[in-house]
Amino acid sequence: MRHLLDTDTLTRDEAIRILDASAQMAATQEREMRKLPTLRGKTVVNLFFEDSTRTRISFEAAAKRLSADVINFSAKGSSLSKGESLKDTALTLQAMGADAVVIRHWASGAASRLAGSGWMHGHVINAGDGTHQHPTQALLDAFTMRRHLVDDSAGKALDGVTVAIVGDILHSRVAGSNIPLLRTLGAKVVVVAPPTLLPYGMTDRDDLDVHYTLDDAIEAHDIDAVMMLRVQRERMTGGGSGFFPSPEEYTRLFGLDGDRLRRMPDHAIVLHPGPMNRGLEISAEAADSPRSVIVEQVSNGVAVRMAALYLLLAGEEAPQ
Ligand code: NCD
Repeated sequence: MRHLLDTDTLTRDEAIRILDASAQMAATQEREMRKLPTLRGKTVVNLFFEDSTRTRISFEAAAKRLSADVINFSAKGSSLSKGESLKDTALTLQAMGADAVVIRHWASGAASRLAGSGWMHGHVINAGDGTHQHPTQALLDAFTMRRHLVDDSAGKALDGVTVAIVGDILHSRVAGSNIPLLRTLGAKVVVVAPPTLLPYGMTDRDDLDVHYTLDDAIEAHDIDAVMMLRVQRERMTGGGSGFFPSPEEYTRLFGLDGDRLRRMPDHAIVLHPGPMNRGLEISAEAADSPRSVIVEQVSNGVAVRMAALYLLLAGEEAPQ
């Protein structure tokens, strides 16, 4: 694997290898000395053209725990906000000796443009490109589900697990990465959204089950994991605000609350990539319930990003 750009091109073996390496990394994070010497002398650049809190600090923590040097390059307060092109930025990164670039960009396709351009030679990790993909988020979600619903032994996938993904599928790169990865790992995927927030053609797919209310999905399936998506108001530009009638109506049909959670199997877990709109797509009771793994997703994110950096930059030996 040279870059990590999307989950469509990940094979089942590659995905499982990343989850297994993540489990090893997570184990090292329980030790008193959490820092590994693995990437000493390597430079990782965090190139963020879009606001981010948890993803950026998660990559920063991951690179630092592996002893890499980290350079944070954010659009605000840099020449990126003066309109410097991706090409000129890439040439600068190359000149600085970046071994890996973690890129978040508002344009779908920016990460693969950077990887395929020849402007720089480092490994590229997509940390979210427009409404397209966010592969490390899907991997950390899969890792979290594997831990709770299957087990963490090496080689395990998510066969037989039923995952409901609820909400703004159309604008969500989290859904864009989760759907292909979950299918690759053998999970059954149930998509729940208003028709206006479904990508064109999704209802015709025979490998997905689509429902137009959360109650219908709960009725029809034994849901093992429910993944709530943030309503991405900042991306709802094309159709004005007409994607759903009102926030109250959205919550009534698609919001996860304590009552809906109680109607799912007892072992069902609740995921959300953050940041949450509490009271819109998820109630405080659901977000803070013992079945919520939302905070754990954040810590698992560091382990998964350590694994991704490690597999790209350090080859394949197991960590010490
Ligand atoms: C997601 C993102 O930025 O795509 N958040 C994240 O990575 N923590 C999801 C979102 O913004 O809703």
